[in-house]
Amino acid sequence: HFYVAIMAGGIGSRFWPYSRTDYPKQFLDILNTGKTLLQWTYERFAQFVPKENIYVVTHQHYEHKVKEQLTELPAANVVCEPSRKNTAPCVAYISYKIRQQDPEANIVCAPADHLIIDGPAFTASCLNALLFVQKHSALVTLGIKPTRPDTGYGYIQYETQQVADNVYPVKTFTEKPNLELAKTFLQSGDFLWNAGIFVWNVKTILAAFKKYLPEIDELFEQGRNDLNTDKERELIDSIYPQCTNISIDYGIMEKADNVYVIPANFGWSDLGTWASAYENLEKDYLGNAVQGKNVVVIDATKCMVKAPHEKLVVLQGLDEFIVIDTNDVLLICRKENEQQIKEYVAEVKRNK
Ligand code: GDD
Ligand code: MG
Repeated sequence: HFYVAIMAGGIGSRFWPYSRTDYPKQFLDILNTGKTLLQWTYERFAQFVPKENIYVVTHQHYEHKVKEQLTELPAANVVCEPSRKNTAPCVAYISYKIRQQDPEANIVCAPADHLIIDGPAFTASCLNALLFVQKHSALVTLGIKPTRPDTGYGYIQYETQQVADNVYPVKTFTEKPNLELAKTFLQSGDFLWNAGIFVWNVKTILAAFKKYLPEIDELFEQGRNDLNTDKERELIDSIYPQCTNISIDYGIMEKADNVYVIPANFGWSDLGTWASAYENLEKDYLGNAVQGKNVVVIDATKCMVKAPHEKLVVLQGLDEFIVIDTNDVLLICRKENEQQIKEYVAEVKRNK
């Protein structure tokens, strides 16, 4: 009864210009490893879950990319959404779909675009969670020890007393706090980051939808008999426009009272930005992470360079810069300003 739903419909705008609406980061090999983040994610799960039980939920625009990158995955396991509604509708859809075929299913819902270094430790944490949710009506999330007051994450405060092997009840779940709050959380030492990897029994998550997002639940509940039939497409096309656009974190995890955390340590990074990619790349003795055939770096330190083309790229005298060259866009920006990339993208789009 073990299943996996890989959520692969996001747009990853902070990795611009490498990541585009057309090519978000889950479909890219950000760290030059020979495989894309989605391929690594799939392979991690294929270690302990049969491939028939692994689903990828994505926007229909990316369907062919998923199929192209995951050739082993049965075609029916690529589940498409007609519009972007964030992760709550995505989880409701896949949960209803899986429940139709297995009412006892225990499901890992995971992002498609993270870096995880220690595969065996990851498997162990997931299996521990799956075994726990099989027996308890618990919404389990994997927690990571925080290292900076990042405002892009969920923060989990938990009880010190475990209820099962490495499983702790969650006191509070705060999605994307402001900087001040994030600093307080970090300093207190009582909080973990939400890795965004959720584990639950299908009955438990659907009960939570009924309670906290009843408007989404009702749509799927009414249409459930059409799932896994040739009427599914039509059903989803009519349901999705009516779904609230909300993440599972805001919609359920912040509100539910049966949330548990499994602290995990498997070398995790959500690779949210170029600087986080930089942290995970090999660097020369001056701290430059350089990817590219024809790059010359002179008197530069701590730069991140990605220039995979024939064109010769020369950097001189730059410190802590990001230089990303693609076919049609060249980005040069200070590492410290990279949170603004999202804004440049909007600006560039307006002026084009
Ligand atoms: N299918 C589908 N449909 N997938 C989606 C959609 C959607 O509409 N929106 C996002 N996703 C996918 C993304 O591709 C990603 O793999 C995953 O769902 C999480 O979405 P993000 O948009 O990346 O969320 P986040 O990074 O802001 O926050 C989440 O992850 C953090 C850890 O990286 C939250 O769970 C935070 O609490 C958590 O700390
Ligand atoms: Mg993310």
